Amino acid sequence: MAILKVARLGHPVLRTPAGQVPTEAVGQADFQRLIDNMVVTMREYDGVGLAAVQVHESLQVAVLEVAENPRYPGKAALPLSVLINPTIRPLGDETEEDWEGCLSIPEIRGLVPRYKRLRVIALDREGNDLDFVAEGFHARVIQHEVDHLRGHVYLDRMPDLSTLTYLTELSRYWANR
Ligand code: NI
Repeated sequence: MAILKVARLGHPVLRTPAGQVPTEAVGQADFQRLIDNMVVTMREYDGVGLAAVQVHESLQVAVLEVAENPRYPGKAALPLSVLINPTIRPLGDETEEDWEGCLSIPEIRGLVPRYKRLRVIALDREGNDLDFVAEGFHARVIQHEVDHLRGHVYLDRMPDLSTLTYLTELSRYWANR
């Protein structure tokens, strides 16, 4: 397995909608290797999610996992999951604001409103159908990753860019928000 290079903001791959993964490709060794490499890359950089476009592969696949993550203290753990060709639909219009960061936009956080509840339809890494409801932080991470697959980054979702902050300043000036 290999730690992959992460594309940073400005690389066109982050602004290009990713292509669907053909069903017959899911079981192939090179695609499975891509998923394994995405997982080790996400863990190496303490991410809670990683989309294939972030490792220069314009395919609709994302991995997510929240262990005890030092970058996101106090967040509920999420088991490792793989979403292939995901589609999401908000359940209700309730949103909530929270801090987000992105491995493609290092050292920065911003407050981003996201839907609280979603219905998620996707394939897992074996090609099985997934259809589930995600809430709260789980729903936030999925919205962030699906945005990547459509060529968006979280900055595009911020109604107020004045909350953008470096991590050091976040802990210094925004700790009580
Ligand atoms: Ni990101």
